[in-house]
Amino acid sequence: MDQAKTLRDQAGPLSLAEGRRPKVIAVTSGKGGVGKTNVVVNLAVALSNLGQRLLVLDADIALGNIDVLFGIVPKYTLEHLLLGQKSLQEVISQGPCGVQILPAGSGSADLAHLTPEQKLILLTELDRLEQEIDIFLIDTAAGISSNVLYFSTVAQEIIVVASPEPTSLTDAYAVMKVLSKRHGEKRFKLLVNLARDENEGREVYRKLSLAAERFLDIAIDYIGFIPHDDYLRMAVSQQKSVVEIYPKAKSSVGFTGLAQKMIQWPASSAPKGNVQFLWRKILSQDSEMLGHAPLSEPGRA
Ligand SMILES: Nc1ncnc2c1ncn2[C@@H]1O[C@H](COP(=O)(O)OP(=O)(O)OP(=O)(O)O)[C@@H](O)[C@H]1O
Ligand SMILES: [Mg+2]
Repeated sequence: MDQAKTLRDQAGPLSLAEGRRPKVIAVTSGKGGVGKTNVVVNLAVALSNLGQRLLVLDADIALGNIDVLFGIVPKYTLEHLLLGQKSLQEVISQGPCGVQILPAGSGSADLAHLTPEQKLILLTELDRLEQEIDIFLIDTAAGISSNVLYFSTVAQEIIVVASPEPTSLTDAYAVMKVLSKRHGEKRFKLLVNLARDENEGREVYRKLSLAAERFLDIAIDYIGFIPHDDYLRMAVSQQKSVVEIYPKAKSSVGFTGLAQKMIQWPASSAPKGNVQFLWRKILSQDSEMLGHAPLSEPGRA
């Protein structure tokens, strides 16, 4: 029996609602500890301050810690949703400045290998959120595990965070390589974190883009840098976002400037990157293939 078809039938017709759709943006890095989670948390608060409605998915299954950074204690996680025990509304936590957080939980769920029923639960629930959010920010784990690749390929934009450390450059290169060779991703946005100054940020971009554009045939847009900032560390120790408690700190100014640019990013002309795309893609693929097969959408190389 065609299981995907059965699930589609059970779910009813897709609600191809007109109008705005949330932008889905994944933040990834290759190397751990370069500041992805802090980037996600602070961009979320900065975007929310600019009137955007944010949902943050903490997709770092093993070490997810957005809730810690936001100073909240979620009662339930994505796992409760996937097990059918709680609704999406119950698993979403309210963070600061109206940011909503969907914690993945620290259990063993591998989102790229969910059962079709679990995918259906996740995606139909996310589908319902379409009208309520403007930006869906995804914090991925470090490395190139199937979950990282999975969330990156369903997003409309992939922000690769790199620091000036040489190992961060090689790991950022590695994640873009896998995403381009295996999944056909050809455009990446680079954010340099922990830079001394603008020159150092641009230097990281220059090195990465030289290698990547030459050997991987991909395009990297440089979206800016966030300076190394002791105020950010102080905010972390208070479990607050730096944007919230030290809005004039140099990192906060960087995050707010980036958020202003992000809201100008054009909406996707392709179906990729919206929640319904995610829904359809997942239901139409064998779960075994997710994270391994090249994308085969029409119009994409
Ligand atoms: N711009 C910055 N200035 C100073 N410290 C920073 C900055 N960005 C991140 N840090 C510090 O770097 C550490 C790692 O940050 P974070 O947890 O956000 O990284 P990550 O990429 O999410 O890590 P992981 O791969 O483990 O999920 C934290 O202790 C944080 O305080
Ligand atoms: Mg993290």
